[in-house]
Amino acid sequence: MAIKFHERAKEFHLYNDSISYIIKVLKNGHLGHVYYGKNITDKEDFGYLIEYAKRDMAPCPFEGEHCFSLESLKQEYPTFGSGDMRYPAFEIEQEDGSRICDFKYKKFHIFKGKKTLEGLPAVYVEKEEEAETLEIILEDSFIQTEIILSYTIFERFPVITKSVQFVCENARGITLLNCMSGCLDLPDKDYEIVKLAGRWSKERQVKTAKLEYGIQSIYSMRGCSSHQFNPFLMLKRENADEFSGEVLGFSLVYSGDFLAQAEVDNFDSTRVIMGIHPNEFRWKLEKNEKFQTPEMVMVYSDNGINKMSHIYHELYRTRLVRGKWRDKERPILINNWEATYFDFNEEKILNIANKAKEIGIEFFVLDDGWFGERNQDDRSLGDWHANLKKLPGGIPGLSEKIEALGMKFGLWFEPEMTNKNSDLFRAHPEWILSDIRRNYCQSRNQYVLDFSKEEVVDYIYQQMKKILTEASVSYIKWDMNRSFSEVFSNGKGKDYQGKVRHKYILGVYRLYEKLKQEFPDILFESCASGGARFDPGLLYYAPQAWTSDNTDAVDRIKIQYGTSYVYPISSMGSHVSASPNHQVFRNTSLDTRANVAYFGTFGYELDITKLSEEELDQMKEQIIFMKKNRKLIQTGVFTRLKSPFEHNSSAWQVMSEDREEGFMAYFRILQPVYGKLERIFMKDLDPKAKYSVVECFGSRQDCGVHYGDELMYAGLSVSDYSSGITDIAREQQGDYFSRLFHIKRES
Ligand code: DGJ
Repeated sequence: MAIKFHERAKEFHLYNDSISYIIKVLKNGHLGHVYYGKNITDKEDFGYLIEYAKRDMAPCPFEGEHCFSLESLKQEYPTFGSGDMRYPAFEIEQEDGSRICDFKYKKFHIFKGKKTLEGLPAVYVEKEEEAETLEIILEDSFIQTEIILSYTIFERFPVITKSVQFVCENARGITLLNCMSGCLDLPDKDYEIVKLAGRWSKERQVKTAKLEYGIQSIYSMRGCSSHQFNPFLMLKRENADEFSGEVLGFSLVYSGDFLAQAEVDNFDSTRVIMGIHPNEFRWKLEKNEKFQTPEMVMVYSDNGINKMSHIYHELYRTRLVRGKWRDKERPILINNWEATYFDFNEEKILNIANKAKEIGIEFFVLDDGWFGERNQDDRSLGDWHANLKKLPGGIPGLSEKIEALGMKFGLWFEPEMTNKNSDLFRAHPEWILSDIRRNYCQSRNQYVLDFSKEEVVDYIYQQMKKILTEASVSYIKWDMNRSFSEVFSNGKGKDYQGKVRHKYILGVYRLYEKLKQEFPDILFESCASGGARFDPGLLYYAPQAWTSDNTDAVDRIKIQYGTSYVYPISSMGSHVSASPNHQVFRNTSLDTRANVAYFGTFGYELDITKLSEEELDQMKEQIIFMKKNRKLIQTGVFTRLKSPFEHNSSAWQVMSEDREEGFMAYFRILQPVYGKLERIFMKDLDPKAKYSVVECFGSRQDCGVHYGDELMYAGLSVSDYSSGITDIAREQQGDYFSRLFHIKRES
C-alpha cells in the first residue's frame, strides 16, 4: 500500500495490491480524475488518460484553447458554473448571491492511519499501518475558503474512503447549499446500476437497471436512511454476476437524508455522487467555522458481487462496528413484541421468560408498552418511567427477576419521539420538529422530537440514564417509527432552519455516543419500523439492527439476501416468529423459520407459553445448534449462491476463513409438481480437501463425503432422497421447504 505524489506530473497515485486510484492536478488548478480500478503499476505520469476533446460550444476557461473544457473532463470534486454542465459535487452561495467557485489545488498531506470524523461515524483503523490517508487542500482565494478532500486507502481491503471538509476564512461567511461526500467520474457508461429498494416490511429488494443517459438516483428525504432506499449503490459491468466481473460499490456512512446517483452524460461518461441530500440543506459557515461531510466507502471487486459483499462485511464488522460487542457472539434473545404487543403485565412477561430460560434463551427483551400510560401507540412516548400498573417493581424489579432466572435483560426505547398525549409534549410542545403555529402531521400517532437542539438530546439522555442506572439493562432496542414531515425548529432563526435535518442526525449520534460511553457493556440494536435505518452510520453505534418488521421466513429470504449485499450477518436482527405469521399470515415450518433466522443474530419473537412440548423441544435443539455455531455463522465468509429474486429457490453458504467448516442453506419457495432435481454449487472450498456433508436437522441425513471440487463444480444434490426418504415424505415437504447442511473438512 502506498500513496505517491509525482511532482512533475502533479499526480497522486493511491494503490495497494488490489486497486489503484489516480488523481491529477489539471492545468486550471482543479483536480482531474484519472483512474479507479484494478491495481496498475505505478509510474511518473498517467496524464494521457486525461482526455481532452474539442466540442462545439464547450465552455473553455483558457481563451482559444477549445480542447480544455470542464464540460467533458473527468474530475474529483466538480463545481457547477465553471463549464461543467453535469450535477455538481458542491455548491456555495456567497454573501453577494454569487455561486461561482474556482477551487484550485493548494497543497497536500499524506499520513499513516486515518483520522476520526468529529461527531460523525466513520470506518477506523486500529493501527496506523492499516491505512494511509491523503488530504488534498483546494482553495478559492476569491472567497477565502478551503476544501479538504480526504482519501484513505487500506493495506488489506480494496477500499477507498472519501470525505470532505469545508473551511471558511471569509469574514462575511459562506453558505453551503450542497456538499457531497464524494464524486467518481468514470470513462464510460457500460454498467448496470443496482439499488436496494423497498418499503415497510419489504426492505432492501435487489433492483437492477441498465445505465442510460440522464440521472438515475436514489435518495431519502424522510429524516432517516429509509425503507425505500438504502444509502448504497452499485455499478456492475453488464456481464458481472455474483461470482465474476467488475463491480463498484458505493456506501454512505450516514443515517439521515441522502442522495446517491449515477449521471450519464451525452458523451457516454458516468458520474457517481453520494452525500447528504441537498433538499432543505443550507448551512451557513461563519469565519473560521468548518463543515465536515459524512464518509463514503467505495469497494472495488474484479470478481463479482459476492466479493464486494465480502469486503463490506469484513470492513464494517471489524472496522466500523466498535466496542465490547464487536467481536462477541451475539446473544440469543426473546422479544415479547409479537407475543403480547401492548397487552402484558409482569406475570405474563415472567411466564414467557421462564419458558425461555428453560429452552436455553439468553436475553429477555421487553419491547414497547412498558412506560407511562402506553397501552396503545397514541401515548406516552417521551415519558420514560415504568408503568407500575403493569410492572409493580418497575424496571429494576423486572430486570432483577429476569436476571434471577439466569438471563440478561433488554429494554426498548424510542428516544427521538413523543406523542400529543404525553407529559413531555404537554410541558414542551416547542420541542417537536414542526412549526407549532400551524397544522402538522402525526404519523403512527406521534411527533418527532427536535434532536437538532442540544437541550432536547440532553433531556432524553437524563431520562434514559436514570433507568439504565437504576436497573440492570444489558441490551437496548432503539426504535424510530416515523419519517419527518414539516421540518421546522421552533424558536430558531432563519439561518438555522437549513441545518436542522443534519443537526438532527448529529444529535442522534451524540446521544448514542453519550450512552455508549456511560454504559459500554450494553448491546445496542437499532431499529426503525423494522429496517428503515439499517445503514453503516448506525453500525458505528449499534452493532446490530432489526432487519425488518416482516418476520415471515419466506419474505425474509429476500430481505436478508438483499441486506447481505452490504451488511454482515452479525448485524442482521433475525427472529423466529409465530406461524401463521403476523404480517403475511403464512404458515411455515419451525425448521424453515429457524433456517432463515440462523443467518443473523438469531432469537425468538412469539408467545412460547402457547407452544407444544414438541415445538419447545425443537427450539431447544435450535438453540443448542446456534450456540455451538454462531461464531462461525456470524463471522465466517457469507456467500450468496442462488438468488430468490430470480428463482423459485435460493441458497447461501457461510464458510470459515480457513475453509475448514461451514453451512449451506437451501430454500425452496413453492413445491413444484415433479419438479426438477436441483444441485447447489458451493464456493470457495479447498478443491482437494474431503468434506463430510451432513444435514443438520430433520432426517439427519448423511450426505456423504465429497471433495471440495465436487461440491463446487458438480454440485450438491439438494433434492435427491434416494437414501431413505419415501415418496410420501417427499410430498409432505410442500411449500417453503428448506434444508441446512453442515460441511466439514475430514481430517
Ligand atoms: C417497530 C419495531 O420495528 C417493532 O419491532 C416494535 O418494536 C414496534 N415498533 C414497537 O412499537
